[in-house]
Amino acid sequence: MYACVCFSVTEEEVTEEIARGAHTEEQLGDRCGAGTSCGTCVERLGCLIAAALQPNGGAPRRVPTHSA
Ligand code: FES
Repeated sequence: MYACVCFSVTEEEVTEEIARGAHTEEQLGDRCGAGTSCGTCVERLGCLIAAALQPNGGAPRRVPTHSA
């Protein structure tokens, strides 16, 4: 799935750039162009950055179960 349609940048490519040190939307734009044309994807890029930089890497959290 494309994260940025204007530059045909996929979510996987964005995630790779984040792993290589692009931790802001501006840094992503410098590296792959994402977010530097129409700007529609910038909010999505921010979400991908936030998810990737979470301590658990964006993996779903385990929901504790309660025993009766
Ligand atoms: S969709 Fe990313 S700049 Fe347009």
